[in-house]
Amino acid sequence: MPTNKTFTMIKPDAVADGHSGAIIKMIEEAGFRIVALKKTQLTAERAGQFYAVHAERPFYESLCTYMSSGPIIPIILEKENAVADFRTLIGATNPDNADEGTIRKLFAKSMQANAIHGSDSDENAQIEGSFFFGNVEQF
Ligand code: PPS
Repeated sequence: MPTNKTFTMIKPDAVADGHSGAIIKMIEEAGFRIVALKKTQLTAERAGQFYAVHAERPFYESLCTYMSSGPIIPIILEKENAVADFRTLIGATNPDNADEGTIRKLFAKSMQANAIHGSDSDENAQIEGSFFFGNVEQF
């Protein structure tokens, strides 16, 4: 049965360009409740751990360098059918393929600098949320 939580990160390009507020507004207006949120910066090593599943892909090094290049905003979100509904809200990985009105269509620049991450399964939402927030109390 699907859980009600998902995990997201606003990526360095969107934070640096001042889009965090607009993106969080879209997320809340879509019915997601913020469970945990902070601003932080990954080291390249930590980024490598987060994206370890992509270690064999040609863009892995570049992705880890990019994801550690500036502040990010990791967030745990709650909503019914959270993982699937959030993936719909953010749109396709490649902004050229993202639907109109999605977060990536509005703010993404490329496959790499694509504004926002969204967990692809309930299991990964749990793993990725814990990666940033551990077992902190969730309100
Ligand atoms: S997904 O969501 O896992 O199905 O998307 P996927 O296409 O597998 O991409 C996984 C993450 O890798 C990033 N990515 C890239 N970075 C740099 N260059 C290229 N060509 C590239 N292709 C994909 C993409 O932004 C995904 O990051 P996350 O944070 O998972 O959305």
